[in-house]
Amino acid sequence: MAEMKPSIMVIFGASGDLAHIKIFPALYSLWEDGFFPDNFFIVGFARTKLNDDVFRKTIFNSLNLNCRKKPIDEDEFTNFAKHVFYLASKYDEYSSYDALGGFIGSKAKEYNMPKNVVYYLSTPPSVYIDVIDGINNAKLTSSEYKGDGFSRIVIEKPFGYDYESAKNLNGKILSVFKEEEIYRIDHYLGKETVQNILAFRFANAIFEPVWNNKFIDHIQISALESIGVGFRSGYFDKAGIIRDMMQNHMMQLLSLVAIEPPPLPDADDLRNEKVKLLKSVRPFSLNDIKKYTVRGQYDRGIIGNKQVLSYKEEEGVPPETLTETYVALKLFIDNYRWAGVPFYLRSGKRLKIHKTEIAIFFKKLPYSLFAKVGIENIKQNSIIITIQPNEGIAINFGAKTPGFKLDIEPVNMVFNYKSSFKLSPPDAYERLIYDVIVGDQTLFARYDDMLIAWQLITSIINGWSKTGAPVFPNYEAGTFGPEDAEELINSDGRIWNN
Ligand code: BG6
Repeated sequence: MAEMKPSIMVIFGASGDLAHIKIFPALYSLWEDGFFPDNFFIVGFARTKLNDDVFRKTIFNSLNLNCRKKPIDEDEFTNFAKHVFYLASKYDEYSSYDALGGFIGSKAKEYNMPKNVVYYLSTPPSVYIDVIDGINNAKLTSSEYKGDGFSRIVIEKPFGYDYESAKNLNGKILSVFKEEEIYRIDHYLGKETVQNILAFRFANAIFEPVWNNKFIDHIQISALESIGVGFRSGYFDKAGIIRDMMQNHMMQLLSLVAIEPPPLPDADDLRNEKVKLLKSVRPFSLNDIKKYTVRGQYDRGIIGNKQVLSYKEEEGVPPETLTETYVALKLFIDNYRWAGVPFYLRSGKRLKIHKTEIAIFFKKLPYSLFAKVGIENIKQNSIIITIQPNEGIAINFGAKTPGFKLDIEPVNMVFNYKSSFKLSPPDAYERLIYDVIVGDQTLFARYDDMLIAWQLITSIINGWSKTGAPVFPNYEAGTFGPEDAEELINSDGRIWNN
């Protein structure tokens, strides 16, 4: 395993939710697992006026709520906290970045270490440009250090709002950092189960030969959530589920399930394959958008015996909003492997169940021997890759039920992470932060795969603006989404794997 080098991680937006709920718990777990070198420092950069001690206290409190290692041992935390600092700053004031430069310089000098710096943008996107300008103005990049260290930048989603804005943001970042220094986070890629898609496909001889249009009937990719938008309505109402889930997480899942084997399992080769794959997704015409996309927004309903509000009634959501909280798509990949195989993708909030899975359905039998003796409806074979919860993979097939009578019933063979490996997968952020610090971009989006995904999604969003305003709400919370989404797949003689 690559070793983490002495380095400094600067967290912009360090007093915010993402930093407290995801980034610090991941950093603390990595530290506890012994990954950090002695000279590793974390510096929070944010507007809230705090000093080091108060900042450390807020981290301690949030670790106790959010860290997989909780409860947190106070003595252990005190040791961790010695690596953590805070600079109360202003994103749009160059002097704040000069102060940051002073901090980096003094740590490098005191510990005789290179200026290895990771900049983590955990702020709202509205301040990304200010931060990049500030870093540039204070000359805090590796090209300015002249070989005395590396600089890397980590950017959270949403990366842009549509194709044009993503392209502009990309251009801006590339004017200061090189592509090999840019880490665009899609936390799905940090999930063990997502990485396992490649192992499953390319480390086994039995699956890949049937992984194509000769044997596969169709593929479903579902990210179903029972939660609503919570306190994130300000962001979500501008994004909608298509930007929030489809452009990034769902496109990554689609890529991994459908790409060709890369020459090497490394960042360049893997991402080249993703680009090839996404370029082969058939563009949506206006007619396709009408036929093959479904939008939804949740109404009031019941989830887990509790009455929940409609989306329009959630705090901070404008009552006249037309933002979608559900989307389903049918798409085709026009290449040799997948020609003619429909991919059905769906994602939504406030649904009946909470699960993310990829369901691969194999073609029906060419003819059924058992139909001749009256056994109809033998279920199609399928492979279900459960990304979460109950992470695992199930292969479904038919077997004869015991007894004198001939009957065929569906059964399954299951691989389950917890029982096979006796452990729960680590949090995605731990893996991704580790990779940034050791400099491995394999699990991060590259500018081109990200932009191609935006191109597709932007064409759908633009198409929607021409197909007339939707009538929302159109599904009850606690159901599986709008009826039109059922129709999308049922009209092809198929059903969602619920
Ligand atoms: C985030 C979205 O990227 O992913 C959220 O912004 C969504 O809306 C979340 O709830 C889902 O992530 P996970 O890891 O819970 O599947």
